[in-house]
Amino acid sequence: MINIAIDGPSGAGKSTVAKALARELSFIYVDTGAMYRSIGLHTRRAGVDPADKEAVIALLPEIAVTLSYGEDGAQHVLLNGEDVSFAIRENEISLYASAVSKIPEVRTFLLALQRDMAKANNVIMDGRDIGTVILPDAQLKIFMFASPEARAKRRYLELLEKGQDVTLEQILAEIEARDEQDRTREVAPAVPAEDAVMLDNSDMTIEENVAYIRSLLEERGLH
Ligand code: DC
Repeated sequence: MINIAIDGPSGAGKSTVAKALARELSFIYVDTGAMYRSIGLHTRRAGVDPADKEAVIALLPEIAVTLSYGEDGAQHVLLNGEDVSFAIRENEISLYASAVSKIPEVRTFLLALQRDMAKANNVIMDGRDIGTVILPDAQLKIFMFASPEARAKRRYLELLEKGQDVTLEQILAEIEARDEQDRTREVAPAVPAEDAVMLDNSDMTIEENVAYIRSLLEERGLH
């Protein structure tokens, strides 16, 4: 199986690029952030403080996260059978997801599901620790990033489109706080794998980005 790992901070365009690539290559796109978001959503619904490690761990036995794919190839995330693909995109859930993702037991809980997907399929998997922890043998690893300002602007426009009431300043501050939290945590920090290709896409279009990754795949004889 061919495994492509795409890691990087939030708003770097990982999911947009990975989705487009997966469609072109007929690979399965696995959005691991959606899995952490599902656990974040369940935590909020349960009225549990996501910083309360023991309380979050106690919720795990009642959580089942599964992925399914629509006819158009789009990933759907199911939380105990309920399609939460839309609900997990709410801005507040980002903070819950970031907080629960710091808990080692939560990461272990999702690890097998992520590895199994990559064992059974050609995948493009995006997240924070895919190249370093989940798929250390991936044939291609990309660490995708862009300036905080470029990422905040993209995310702001995305949330506006969804009708959410946010300001650019607020999003920039949240992105910087979340970057810091994701980068400095003890388990699986969001850092590049040693053999990752570093890709700064601040000034790239989605098409340029996709084309660049395709050229890397061709160079490596993977496509
Ligand atoms: O990619 P995203 O913004 O949907 O991810 C939500 C949160 O989940 C993010 O703050 C970091 C965390 N995450 C993680 O720790 N490891 C992953 N592989 C993917 C996401």
